[in-house]
Amino acid sequence: MVQDGRRWLKSPINSPEDLVESDQQKGLEAPSIQKPYPSDAALVDLVTPEAFSLGDTSLVAALRERKSRRQYADSALTLDEFSFLLWAVQGVRRVSEKVPVSFRTVPASGGIHPFETYLVINRVENLDPGLYRYLPVEHKLLRVGPVDPEWLEKLVFACRGQAFVRKSAVVFIWTAVPYRTEWRYANEAHKGIALSSGHVCQNLYLACEAIGAGTCAISAYAQDAMDSLLGVDGRDEFTVYIAPVGKVAE
Ligand SMILES: Cc1cc2nc3c(=O)[nH]c(=O)nc-3n(C[C@H](O)[C@H](O)[C@H](O)COP(=O)(O)O)c2cc1C
Repeated sequence: MVQDGRRWLKSPINSPEDLVESDQQKGLEAPSIQKPYPSDAALVDLVTPEAFSLGDTSLVAALRERKSRRQYADSALTLDEFSFLLWAVQGVRRVSEKVPVSFRTVPASGGIHPFETYLVINRVENLDPGLYRYLPVEHKLLRVGPVDPEWLEKLVFACRGQAFVRKSAVVFIWTAVPYRTEWRYANEAHKGIALSSGHVCQNLYLACEAIGAGTCAISAYAQDAMDSLLGVDGRDEFTVYIAPVGKVAE
C-alpha cells in the first residue's frame, strides 16, 4: 500500500513505552564523526572560509533568485567557489567535546551529522577529475578514485537517465551513515536524518545562487546502482540525495 509510507513521516513516539533504549543510553561507544580514511592519504587543500573572495550577493537576492537549474555552462568552477560550496553544505564551526556532536553551517538532529558528501568532479580549476569525498572536520578533500566517460554514463543511468547530470561541473552526492543518529535516537533517528538532508541541499541551492552557479536536487535515482558506483555497502551507508552543480549558462 502506498499509504503505508505515511507512517514513516510521523514521529514513532506516542507514549513512553514507544521509546527504545538507545546505544548511547546503554553506554556503547560513540560512532566516529566522519567516515575514517587512511592516515597516509594525501589530502587536497581547499580555500579556507576566512579566505573566500566571492563577491557580496545578499541572502535576500539569493532567496529571490533560487530555482532548480538544469542547464550548465561549459566553464569550470574555481577552487574558491568549489571550496565555498563544500563549506556551505557541511562546514564545521566547532566540534563539541561531547563526541560525535559538531556544529556546522547546517543544523542536524542532536548535532549529529549523519551525512558524507561525495563529489564527482568534472570541471574544477586545479583539481583532477575524479570521485572525491569531503572531510568537513579538516575542510579538505580525499580522492576516492578516478572516473572515466563510461563511469559517468553509469552515473547518468543511475540518476534514471536525467541527462543534465552529464553537463554539470561537479555532482554532489550525499550518503547517510544512519548509525550515527541511531546511536543517540534509536527508533526516532530516521525521520531526523531525512529532515536534516533538506537543510544541506537548501544551503547548496543558496550558495550556488551567490556565485552565479545553479543546482537541482535529485531524489529520483536507482539506489543499488548509486551505492555500487560509490563503493558503499547500501546498509550502513547509502545514497540519499544528489545535486549536480554548474555555472549558469548565459
Ligand atoms: C526532495 C526533492 C527531490 C527532487 N528530485 C528531483 C529529481 O529527481 N529531478 C529533477 O529534475 N528535479 C528534482 N527536484 C526539483 C523539483 O522538481 C523542483 O524543486 C520543483 O520543480 C520546483 O522548482 P524550483 O526548485 O525551481 O522552485 C527535487 C526537489 C526536491 C526538493
